[in-house]
Amino acid sequence: MFSYKVKNSAVATATDTNGAVSLRRDVCCWERALSTWGFYPTAFRGEAAVWSGLSSSWPHGYIHTIGEKGSSRGVSRIETNEIGPVKLLALAGSLRIGSLNKKLVKVAAEGARKTGAQVTYIDLADYQLPVFNQDDQDANGVPENAYKLKALMKESDGLIIASPEYNSSIPGGCKNALDWVSREVPGEKVLECFRGRTAVLMSASPGRLGGLRGLVALRSMLQNVGVTVIPEQLALSQADEAFAADGSLKDPRRQEQVESLGRKLAQVAARLKD
Ligand SMILES: Cc1cc2nc3c(=O)[nH]c(=O)nc-3n(C[C@H](O)[C@H](O)[C@H](O)COP(=O)(O)O)c2cc1C
Repeated sequence: MFSYKVKNSAVATATDTNGAVSLRRDVCCWERALSTWGFYPTAFRGEAAVWSGLSSSWPHGYIHTIGEKGSSRGVSRIETNEIGPVKLLALAGSLRIGSLNKKLVKVAAEGARKTGAQVTYIDLADYQLPVFNQDDQDANGVPENAYKLKALMKESDGLIIASPEYNSSIPGGCKNALDWVSREVPGEKVLECFRGRTAVLMSASPGRLGGLRGLVALRSMLQNVGVTVIPEQLALSQADEAFAADGSLKDPRRQEQVESLGRKLAQVAARLKD
């Protein structure tokens, strides 16, 4: 999520009613423009009003340029951190070192970061877990790696997941990790690390369907445990030929599409955040 600081010190006044800030000031073309683009005032700091918005269609670059010209009636972009950042966890459903899905999720994560979201990328291979067996849990409890994963999920407002399909469904390693973190532990609410989270899904495969069928299963599973999965998704076919050496997608339109999924997730997660 982006926000902008509108400088208009001469005439700005603000009224704070139980945390909600309403602004009264003389006509300011930038404020009008910002409201037209779906922004709203979220804070008033000293000489500047902070406007935040979720629309992805407004011209950040243009506003940024005007703000930098130093006009007293300027607009400048500020860090999202100032208004409480959205935290996202990005992971691939593959454990493989050269995973195409790891590459894909990193592109989407970058898109989300560009909105100011705080994105943590993790590799599921660093959280190896035994194949789930209830007897194992009864005897030994939930493994430390599952606790670590749970903690990361609980700290996050949203999940960016790129997963391959294995035989048209969720790969075992990924499903096993999700099964482990779904296990309730003392002091935790049922499915606490899933509920209230928002997710975006994507897949990559050398095949023609791009792993699309696996996403059906993954979407259904996540929704059933309380995750809001946004409708936008992407299945990248012929993914073995899609990436450049630097990890970006060779096709700039594809690159933009994947980044925009990350952005969209950041925007929706910010809106749905408790
Ligand atoms: C057990 C197994 C099952 C697979 N099943 C499918 C499948 O159903 N559809 C598909 O497009 N690719 C399938 N593949 C190929 C994967 O899409 C391919 O290995 C892909 O690169 C895995 O993702 P990764 O690169 O992120 O590890 C399968 C691979 C394995 C190992």
